[in-house]
Amino acid sequence: MTDGVVTSATAAAELVDEDVLEIIAPRAVDEVVVLDYGGQYSQLIARRVRELGVFSELLPHHVGAEEVRRREPKGLILSGGPASVYAPGAPRLDRELLELGIPVLGICYGMQLIALALGGKVEGAEVGEFGRSELTVREPGRLFADLPADQTCWMSHRDTVFEPPPDFTALASSTGSPVAALESVERAIYGIQFHPEVVHTPYGQTILERFLAEICEADRSWSPESIVAEQIARIRAQVGSGKVICGLSGGVDSSVAALLVHRAIGDQLTCVFVDHGLMRKNEGEQVIRAFRDHFKVPLVAVDAEQRFLERLRGVSDPETKRKGIGAEFIRVFEEEAAKLGEVKYLVQGTLYSDVIESGGGTGAATIKSHHNVGGLPEDLQFELVEPLRALFKDEVRAVGAELGLPERLVWRQPFPGPGLAIRIVGGEATKQRLDLLRECDYILQDEIRSAGLYRDLWQSFCVLPDIRTVGVQGDERTYGSVVVIRAVTSDDAMTADWARLPYDLLEQIASRMINELRDVNRVVLDITSKPPGTIEWE
Ligand code: XMP
Repeated sequence: MTDGVVTSATAAAELVDEDVLEIIAPRAVDEVVVLDYGGQYSQLIARRVRELGVFSELLPHHVGAEEVRRREPKGLILSGGPASVYAPGAPRLDRELLELGIPVLGICYGMQLIALALGGKVEGAEVGEFGRSELTVREPGRLFADLPADQTCWMSHRDTVFEPPPDFTALASSTGSPVAALESVERAIYGIQFHPEVVHTPYGQTILERFLAEICEADRSWSPESIVAEQIARIRAQVGSGKVICGLSGGVDSSVAALLVHRAIGDQLTCVFVDHGLMRKNEGEQVIRAFRDHFKVPLVAVDAEQRFLERLRGVSDPETKRKGIGAEFIRVFEEEAAKLGEVKYLVQGTLYSDVIESGGGTGAATIKSHHNVGGLPEDLQFELVEPLRALFKDEVRAVGAELGLPERLVWRQPFPGPGLAIRIVGGEATKQRLDLLRECDYILQDEIRSAGLYRDLWQSFCVLPDIRTVGVQGDERTYGSVVVIRAVTSDDAMTADWARLPYDLLEQIASRMINELRDVNRVVLDITSKPPGTIEWE
């Protein structure tokens, strides 16, 4: 066993979506490919490589040497993985990957695969090595030159390399690993048992940097900003003089995608912003001001509040609500698109993590539908323009900042397509309830921003259950609404933890809501993580 068993490499093999192979490195920058053997930190490796200025993609381990060769990378990294190299069905190493003439770095399971394939001795140990470990460097080699002989590293494995393959040098050991690092300079093959990508390995980033800069000799010129020029050229080549439409939600992904496309083709792009009346306070105006007034992007803003309220009348079932909103959204969008004449292309703010999550290659068997434009169906007759397909969320934010997107939009927390309607729980989302929820949400955001916590939270919002409770205010009995505060931390919304907001802040939020909003007489805090809860209540 290596790595925590979070994903299964065999599941990854079944889930491969050809889509993931479509992302190719921006032209003219060096790339290092990370092959994913199902490890918990595989995505993080690619992320770290990018942080070091080298474009990197994570590909499923079984794409094969031919696919790797086609990309002409400067180097190859084999990730960790949850399996034992001896387990039936465990992913094997395609020996050809070691013969591509490019440097290879195996991490954890990746190193064990190399050792096993080239004649080293790998065995399952009685006791695994998980967490912090002390590394002793006996021979610095190329990876550890000038680094301390004793250093801390992060381990997560049970199988262990006992002897390196012939002609390889063992560089380091740790309490649980007789061979914790190895190299063959002649063959340009390196291996480390520990995880350089996690922060608990203090010299991890330096070691990765050595591999990239000195061993792969990769040019470190990639940055999220450099993708702007690259994408502009690609978008122009893709759409020529065709008309393009973009559903703008005000979220960071669609905003950045729209701006990039506008930079590329100017007024050939029209953005459609459907205000369904389920947005947060002032949100619609902010989007219109930024795009139409500031960036001069042709923008059709549709005030569709009445239509949506009509559609939501009498509906309390969550799924019916979602479906109704989705269907109405499509109708409004199609009507607007039809008015624009012949439109061939649709911009979507699909991110790299969306591609991976929908079966791309990490083995993350969580398939989530993404609603970048509120859930447009696939049979809409548009060709997709997806300029963010190669980027992680934080890189998208960097691109947004580079393009001059206001800070408020760049750092906006995620907001669901069906908006506030799915936060009015157990009852109908009426205009009156939506307005109350909007005000509650406004107070919450205001206080969280003032406390400097907005960016630390994945999401913070209010939920309005359709119940009333008894209270007492100014000697009088009240019978008012309960507001739930939901604040979570998360990396990707797949799992989340409830945020430990300071008590004083919670008190301030609760007293403002109760004092400023006549209908509210009770405020409660949701302390459920995900799983078992979801982030939203419906
Ligand atoms: P859950 O509630 O499933 O949410 O834990 C995970 C993340 O997805 C967002 N979410 C949605 N986003 N359309 C969206 O665009 C939707 O229908 C939708 N439902 C949930 C949610 O806010 C969280 O960030």
